[in-house]
Amino acid sequence: MTSSNDIRATFLDYFARNGHQVVDSSPLVPRNDPTLMFANSGMVQFKNVFTGQEKRPYSRATTAQKCVRAGGKHNDLDNVGYTARHHTFFEMLGNFSFGDYFKDQAIEHAWTLLTRDFALPKDKLLVTVFSEDEEAPVYWKKVAGLPDSRIIRIPTSDNFWRMGDTGPCGPCSEIFFDHGPSIPGGPPGSADEDGDRFIEIWNLVFMQFEEGPPGTRVPLPRPSIDTGMGLERFAAILQGKHDNYDTDTLRALILASAEATGQDPDGPFRSSHRVVADHLRAGTFLIADGVLPSNEGRGYVLRRILRRAMRHAHMMGAREPLLHRLVPALVRQMGAAYPEIVRAEALVIETLRLEETRFRSLLDRGLHLLAEEVAKLPEKGTLAGDVAFRLYDTYGFPLDLTQDALREQGRAVDLAGFEAAMTEQKQRARAAWAGSGEAATETVWFDLRERLGATEFLGYSTESAEGEILAVVQDGKVVDSAPAGAEVAVILNQTPFYAESGGQVGDGGTIQAGEACRIVVRDTQKKLGDLFVHLGTVAHGAARPGLAVVAEVDHGRRGAIRAHHSATHLLHEALRRKLGTHVAQKGSLNAPDRLRFDVSHPKPIEADELAWVEAEVNARIRENAEVITRLMTPEAAVAEGAMALFGEKYGDEVRVVAMGRDEAATERRGNYSVELCGGTHVTRTGDIGLFRIVSEGAVAAGVRRLEAVTGETALKLIDESDAYLRDAATLLKARPQELAERVGALLEDRKRLEREVVDLRKKLATGGGAAAVEEIGGFRVALRNVGEVPPRDLKGLVEAILQGGTADIVAVVSTADGKASVMVGLGDAARGKADAVTLVRAASAALGGKGGGGKPDMAQAGGPDASQADEALAAVRAALG
Ligand code: ALA
Repeated sequence: MTSSNDIRATFLDYFARNGHQVVDSSPLVPRNDPTLMFANSGMVQFKNVFTGQEKRPYSRATTAQKCVRAGGKHNDLDNVGYTARHHTFFEMLGNFSFGDYFKDQAIEHAWTLLTRDFALPKDKLLVTVFSEDEEAPVYWKKVAGLPDSRIIRIPTSDNFWRMGDTGPCGPCSEIFFDHGPSIPGGPPGSADEDGDRFIEIWNLVFMQFEEGPPGTRVPLPRPSIDTGMGLERFAAILQGKHDNYDTDTLRALILASAEATGQDPDGPFRSSHRVVADHLRAGTFLIADGVLPSNEGRGYVLRRILRRAMRHAHMMGAREPLLHRLVPALVRQMGAAYPEIVRAEALVIETLRLEETRFRSLLDRGLHLLAEEVAKLPEKGTLAGDVAFRLYDTYGFPLDLTQDALREQGRAVDLAGFEAAMTEQKQRARAAWAGSGEAATETVWFDLRERLGATEFLGYSTESAEGEILAVVQDGKVVDSAPAGAEVAVILNQTPFYAESGGQVGDGGTIQAGEACRIVVRDTQKKLGDLFVHLGTVAHGAARPGLAVVAEVDHGRRGAIRAHHSATHLLHEALRRKLGTHVAQKGSLNAPDRLRFDVSHPKPIEADELAWVEAEVNARIRENAEVITRLMTPEAAVAEGAMALFGEKYGDEVRVVAMGRDEAATERRGNYSVELCGGTHVTRTGDIGLFRIVSEGAVAAGVRRLEAVTGETALKLIDESDAYLRDAATLLKARPQELAERVGALLEDRKRLEREVVDLRKKLATGGGAAAVEEIGGFRVALRNVGEVPPRDLKGLVEAILQGGTADIVAVVSTADGKASVMVGLGDAARGKADAVTLVRAASAALGGKGGGGKPDMAQAGGPDASQADEALAAVRAALG
């Protein structure tokens, strides 16, 4: 038997030998197409190569592409399990020519590979062509020698392939395998073509056009080739089966499901096993490509797929979560061809277990309600829409799960009723919001959130992605277009921009649609929880809804933000280790140039504690441990020792970020730091580079604020302080390490010199001699401005002059520290005749002071205006005269 793995290898080898580059499958989430939910065929990753927008170093390629058709234009979810050939996940083998060869060689390659390498009997093959295509039949005759009877012309869109509503497209030619008359079914184009006799195995698309907005179709720069062969159905033919689910890979998964549930793989639960096998593949590959179950967008499609499988597992009697136990069987089958599922195995298992554990708690009760409601219905009666809505809203039953459950009984859901119930709920939410007191100007966001739904955030795994502008808001109003220069708020369907939350600032960057529009984004904010709003300026062109754009985060800025955010986690843990577990986060800011972290701690954090914390964080950085992010329930996260953030509200699922190793921390599974956090983080702690605490201080009672920097900012800071040191050392003609000693010695010197100056001043003041004494009103008066003498020395000075016996009245004024102080003293000859208090008050008035005081023979005063010192002495003179 030719295994699926062999078929894949043979296909790729054939085209590699024929000058094709073997290219890896692109991720299931298209990075280059905002209009597609999932990669649904091999050509998706080459879309821009076909249109000439993107150049590759090769003009021929071949791939085995992971595809999901669930949601969007190609949606097969509802049929999976009940038919032989529907899948949500499948592999498409393809060969591509980008303006290289065209129809003739495409047909020749296909025919050679099928009939020679895969040795299919020629007489079992027939083809269809688009009826307007006159060339393809000619080549089929020439290359394959097919008679007209086996070249069927199809006039419908079945033979005109489109990726989606827009994008490259063209007529196609499909190759069919005929299982022979023993199987019912007619040839393609006939009334009973849906039978199983004629099976399409390969679609050759002759890419010639690009479809734009409705009604516009332009020729591609060069005609190209895109082909697609479903591996599962081709394997069925080569393995002699009629049913894709009987081929090796899927059968192995069905047997794993049979073993896990104890249910016969081909018994009454045949469909359920198939659902489980198919959905397990879709779920695993989607999770490995970064999609996680959620209530919006891609995450919701994943959730729908998983819950559908979980109901079938439940029906088969599984009483414990089941899907995750089947992951190893899938990895054994497909891990060699797709190593990403090997790498993601643990994450997939954990995510599936979490999703199934949570859903199981609702499933029983939901099914019970469903059974009760169905019992009330007449045979084949339709289930009321509001019941389906209750199942959806309260029990987490996606609509298609309810439909799937009813399908077995030939029943349907009243869809209009379901929609009406949904609308009514939105109106209730709106009414509740209107009463919640938020500013009326915010109404615009509520309208937009309701109309557009949540924004899909891609920024955990990419910093650049295509998206579509869904709305432009200018001056608080939704506009059709905003011109260059306008300040705008822009909403995209999906974005790599992180919106400010959890202390991490919003991303900046650009949103661009070639020449048509460029918006420079300075900040991103979240409205109503999950509507991402890009705030910026239109730099050129015009911003308008409908534009397909490339949203590119400012990588350097994001990188620096990431480093600060991850450092905050390490800092938090280091503080707890040094200061105690009372340390809790009270607020934080993670910006490109700094981090700020507020923690509860009753007293200043000492310098040696800070030094320890800084060294500890740097040691963890050098350890360069992996940073691991997982999703779990808040309860599970807390059980793992995750530190929950202050004031955050957590939903059903939380992201848990673990970093650093500490084998002793068994309560945290050997992780150094574990936190609940929705932010973006470095891949390894070493990416932080360097950590430096800048300041520590009080912010409120019992709350300390730390500021720190990382990476380049920290380096710059160190460089700067180095430069300061060197400059100072140069001035002192010392080496930097001698600075402290030298500055200490200088300060000592200065103190000594100051003392000397004061002594000298005193000497000068007391030793002035008779020359400095004036005769006023019959007294010998000494008036001295002594400059920078400390006020406490003035009294001694006055006494010293009086003792010298050359003066009867002494007034001194000093101007130390910019303030004036006056002291007046009387000798024996003046006592009782003059009054020191009166004199000192006169001086004080001149100094702008408010009087003074003391005894009649010794009084003092002061004043703020030292520049008036001499005027103060003049005032004493005047008062005596
Ligand atoms: N893109 C083509 C298909 O999906 C080959 O059928």
